[in-house]
Amino acid sequence: MHKVIYDTDPGVDDAMALLFLHRHPEIDLIGITTIFGNASIETTTRNALFLKQEWNIAAPVAKGANVTIDPSRHERPWPTFVHGDNGLGNMPGVPDKIDLPVDPRPAHRFIIETVRANPGEVTLVAVGRMTNLALALQEDPEIAGLVKAVVIMGGNFYVPGNVSPVAEANIHGDPEAADIVMTAPWKVVVIGLDVTAITTMSRSYMRDMAEKGDKAVKQLDELSQFYIDFYKHAVEDGMMVHDSCAAVYVVAPELFTTITGGVRVVCGGIADGQTVIKPDGRRFPPGDWDGLPSQIVATGIESDKVLSLIRETLLRA
Ligand code: BDR
Ligand code: CA
Repeated sequence: MHKVIYDTDPGVDDAMALLFLHRHPEIDLIGITTIFGNASIETTTRNALFLKQEWNIAAPVAKGANVTIDPSRHERPWPTFVHGDNGLGNMPGVPDKIDLPVDPRPAHRFIIETVRANPGEVTLVAVGRMTNLALALQEDPEIAGLVKAVVIMGGNFYVPGNVSPVAEANIHGDPEAADIVMTAPWKVVVIGLDVTAITTMSRSYMRDMAEKGDKAVKQLDELSQFYIDFYKHAVEDGMMVHDSCAAVYVVAPELFTTITGGVRVVCGGIADGQTVIKPDGRRFPPGDWDGLPSQIVATGIESDKVLSLIRETLLRA
């Protein structure tokens, strides 16, 4: 069993990954921590609580950061054109407030205390900005040695970005936090656009799952329609299932090809938020990648098998 804390900014693709983590038989979802990004922290936390309630998820929800780790960074408008005004693709019927308790701790402290209570056992699956993870490391650096693995959706190495020519949204949203996470002495697996942008689910594949699935899968289909429309420019009648790729890695790493090396994040300038790996074995003059932990970066994926595993898992009601 993989004990997972899911750090998320729901978010349409976040919602699919949440259902995957909830339904996969080898995953024990022990916490959901929220982060701002696809919408404000109030909205992403409300959405996490909404999905928890609708899908009967036992894991507690802890509310996370609402500003970047360097608070002097300017916030841009929420990407409502991607995830809708309510963060769930403008799905109707999402109440303003959900009548469920939120964990009293801020997300980063929830992470620290849960990791300390389960030493060596917790996998952090982080699919939004890395702010909560960086705050946890700053407050308690020893957790790096107590976490089993950190699997993140973010970054891009040998393909273009999606919010700038060189940067991906989750990393670009808080580059300083991402650099802290990548360079800490824990095992990070980076599932970036190199693999998620080629893992696309068509509208008809989603619809077919909805027809065979229960209420939760039908809701996923409903809330995905706006997001599929957004992807018109890049995908033929379908959507990139970014966050689910990170969730799938936890149980099926054999579906990915990877390289290893030190990873840094560019902070500032025209390449703000760019992720750069120094592949192990390549020699360069002394520089900013020296002495870093060797992290795992996905460069290839068996997309069809990933989609099949998502389908099979979501249909396990
Ligand atoms: C990432 O950004 C968000 O819009 C998605 O939820 C995903 O985590 C893709 O760049
Ligand atoms: Ca996300």
